[in-house]
Amino acid sequence: MEKQLKVLDHPLISHKLTIIRDKRTTSKEFAETVDEIAGLMAYEITRDVRTRKINVETPLMVSQQSTLDQDIIIVPILRAGLGMVEGIRGIAPNAKIGHIGMYRDEETLEPKEYFCKLPEGLEDAYILVVDPMLATGGSASATLTLLKARGAKKIKLVCLVGAPEGVKAVQEGHPDVDIYLAALDEKLNEDGYIVPGLGDAGDRLFGTK
Ligand code: PRP
Ligand code: URA
Repeated sequence: MEKQLKVLDHPLISHKLTIIRDKRTTSKEFAETVDEIAGLMAYEITRDVRTRKINVETPLMVSQQSTLDQDIIIVPILRAGLGMVEGIRGIAPNAKIGHIGMYRDEETLEPKEYFCKLPEGLEDAYILVVDPMLATGGSASATLTLLKARGAKKIKLVCLVGAPEGVKAVQEGHPDVDIYLAALDEKLNEDGYIVPGLGDAGDRLFGTK
């Protein structure tokens, strides 16, 4: 089935996105705001997590109520994806975390995998792959390929800012994966950066430049 691109256009998300785009924003505020945006996005995205009914004894009676029936697994693409984990974990009870390390070769822009540690139960889990930036789409596509090879079936890709080039690449390589963005930007520049974008998300999160 052909999956979709959904841009989560919401005043709170747009306001916070403007904060992280601003080059004067400190690393601390950048990190806090990335987490907040990720949480807001996840609240909307996870509407279709599987639930089941259980009996719960309220102070008044036994009643049938809803509970989650599926593991939520958050998979940050290191490093920058780490910045979105706590914001989602805060609203997703008992979420498990898988880590996939990818970096872009600065010359070729090709993704290089350097770390992979995933929880068990990928086959039945509801998986959110998170990374603030979807630029060429190379890192996201390689991550999706790896997860599928390990048995993952229900995967959503959650990024803050995307370029049309990256969206196209993921849609072509992984038509079964929904893509969620807080903003779809204009294009990539000649260095492979998203414009207007927000710069290097990993460096801004961790203060490495
Ligand atoms: C950034 C970003 C994505 C990737 C996007 O990571 O966090 O993972 O680039 O680019 P792509 O769509 O062209 O693959 P980077 O390689 O800079 O590593 P970092 O997170 O460790 O800073
Ligand atoms: N990675 C980033 O961190 N920023 C971009 O604009 C592109 C890739």
